Amino acid sequence: HHGAAPAARSAPAVALPEGAPLPALAPLANRSRQAGRFVGELVAAPARVGLAADGRSTEVWAYNGSLPGPLIEVYEGDTVEIDFVNRLPQPTTIHWHGLPVPAEQDGNPMDPVAPGERRRYRFTLPADSAGSYWYHPHPHGHTAEQVFRGLAGAFVVKSRRDPLGQLRDVPLLLSDLRLDEHAAIPPNTPADWMDGREGDYVLVNGALRPVLTLADGERVRLRVWNATSARVLRLALPGYETWRVGSDGGLIEAPRREAEIVLSPGERAEWVVTGRAQPGALVALPYRRGKMMSAEVDETLTLASLAPAARVASAPLPRRLRRIAPLPAPAVRRQIVLEENMADPKAMFTLNGRVYDMARADFVGRVGQVEEWEVVNRADMDHPFHLHGTQFQVLARHDGRGWRDEPYRAWRDVVSLPAGHAVRLRFVQALPGMRMFHCHILEHEEQGMMGQIDVR
Ligand code: C2O
Ligand code: CU
Repeated sequence: HHGAAPAARSAPAVALPEGAPLPALAPLANRSRQAGRFVGELVAAPARVGLAADGRSTEVWAYNGSLPGPLIEVYEGDTVEIDFVNRLPQPTTIHWHGLPVPAEQDGNPMDPVAPGERRRYRFTLPADSAGSYWYHPHPHGHTAEQVFRGLAGAFVVKSRRDPLGQLRDVPLLLSDLRLDEHAAIPPNTPADWMDGREGDYVLVNGALRPVLTLADGERVRLRVWNATSARVLRLALPGYETWRVGSDGGLIEAPRREAEIVLSPGERAEWVVTGRAQPGALVALPYRRGKMMSAEVDETLTLASLAPAARVASAPLPRRLRRIAPLPAPAVRRQIVLEENMADPKAMFTLNGRVYDMARADFVGRVGQVEEWEVVNRADMDHPFHLHGTQFQVLARHDGRGWRDEPYRAWRDVVSLPAGHAVRLRFVQALPGMRMFHCHILEHEEQGMMGQIDVR
């Protein structure tokens, strides 16, 4: 049913240097001296950076000239103020992906910042919100391009009572990069608009196959962001002892022995990994997501190398991490159906049969009310589902044959939804306002696979 056979993957046009030590994410400076307050500035602007191995520079769009954007690190309960300046040739916004910020501070498509303008985003982080979030543009019609040109950064909320606070904390932000023969970032092709754009390279903190040094016996906490537009990353650390400890919205209740983590676009995870005496690698295993025009990833990609160092002793992992109360029975149930309609170029990617309209509320909800949504992917491609403004709990997943209860509780804001699958999830919106929900393949979101709930 997919028509012509997908094209073969082509070789990258430009070589990148590889194998340097893992770059740290540059932190955003806090200009406030007041406890509990973070004040920073982000400027989105074109910048020239050296990416190609042959010394040619590349124009990217970046926050504060940095690729990826600066790391924002704050604590639960902090008030965050970000002075934002748009020096791009297009309107933009900053969306605080996964964070429970007021709707008018969340960089919604209806609140654009025009070229040359500035605005201040301001919000206070609630208690128990520690986790690995991110920020990226969300303007109507320009989101995919602004992200693939480089606009995305990590946002970490820490807890002062973190049961894993003694571990080395290593953020790994995974992004995609494609360069043409001029070492420039090319626009999307028709295949990208269909399948979602993938690059020639998956970068880790902006670097190709960097080296993370991990002492034999040392436990580290890896926070991993899938900040690619469209890739599903089946991550593994072959030969290492790996425990999943967190999801999008922070720690899970107890460590789980998970050797493989499937991260769909927009999703995050936390993993505790123990170093060993031999070298190793963080890899992405082959994954087919039903692409129609471009080639599937049938090879294992090495994302980063792990280099050993002299043995150290590490304390054992705590047995319990956090309590996550189950959400009670819902007041409202809704169904969300994701579909593809290749016959209509104006409505190829739909949600409940329609494309996004920022003037229309698809649903009306209530502050504090438990909602249960069954999200069904009736399409031929995977479509990762994302909700703004809150975190949800997945209750069960349907794999096309039957429902299976989710084996553990976690707070998430993106859930992987393979073709023909469904999920059942529950959430509460604590704040009023318009909240988007959409496919996080940014090319699909931009073509209208998005809706909004007006929470009152
Ligand atoms: Cu990460 Cu609506 O976005
Ligand atoms: Cu999609």
